[in-house]
Amino acid sequence: MSEPILPLRIHNLRYQPNGREVLAGIDLELGVDGITLVLGANGAGKSMLLRAICGLVEPTAGRIEWGGRRTDGGGGRPRAGVMMVFQQPMMLRAPVLENVALGLKPLGVPAAERRRRAQAMLVRVGLGHRAADSARQLSGGEQQRLALARAWLTKPRLLLLDEPTASLDPSASAEVERIIREIRTDGTRILMVTHNLGQATRLGDDVVFMAAGRVCEHTPVQRFFSRPHSEEARLFIQGELPWRMHF
Ligand SMILES: Nc1ncnc2c1ncn2[C@@H]1O[C@H](COP(=O)(O)OP(=O)(O)OP(=O)(O)O)[C@@H](O)[C@H]1O
Ligand SMILES: [Mg+2]
Repeated sequence: MSEPILPLRIHNLRYQPNGREVLAGIDLELGVDGITLVLGANGAGKSMLLRAICGLVEPTAGRIEWGGRRTDGGGGRPRAGVMMVFQQPMMLRAPVLENVALGLKPLGVPAAERRRRAQAMLVRVGLGHRAADSARQLSGGEQQRLALARAWLTKPRLLLLDEPTASLDPSASAEVERIIREIRTDGTRILMVTHNLGQATRLGDDVVFMAAGRVCEHTPVQRFFSRPHSEEARLFIQGELPWRMHF
């Protein structure tokens, strides 16, 4: 059994590579279920926040409490039960089936069982017929579905998604949204970055709005769009946020 993940509490998390305030003191709490959308302008720190939670960057200061318990450091190491899918997912030069099955390798699942489960998962994401094709020949939308299948197969407790539908056409986006809903129904907590405000209202339970490396507000999705309480969020929703904000 892996260590408990949720609820997750982030306290004053800072990431300052070369003295630059990329994450400028993040406070954030994630409950045990639902889909939380992270919104904010380019450069706000959304991807770096996900990377810090995932343990891909070592925070300069602050801490993350996993499973409601105070633990050692603030992150900086990958944690079992937490998975991340990037905007441009990594694809091995290998067939689709192998690319999905590899997620189970670190869990010690035998090879034949890995392949069986990977095939069943490919069917769930609508790629059952592509199992033998080269993963690198898939389209962008298909690669996103493959990456979601790979992550889902491991039954993560928390899934971090960085713009999973950026550069996808509307029908591919709708398909990815359907898969994300199913992953959530299956019991995975989701934290997802998007620039698509329509998608945020369709998928999100709550919104984390970031500007200049800080969380400006964290509110239920309907309230965020109808009555945002920060001026930055109001300007962002209206499409009027100045390109560079100084605080
Ligand atoms: N190692 C680093 N050194 C200096 N600056 C960095 C480093 N890593 C990230 N940054 C900066 O931190 C800022 C936040 O980056 P991040 O990728 O989190 O933005 P984002 O909110 O995801 O933006 P986008 O919407 O464009 O994806 C950017 O200005 C980026 O250049
Ligand atoms: Mg980003």
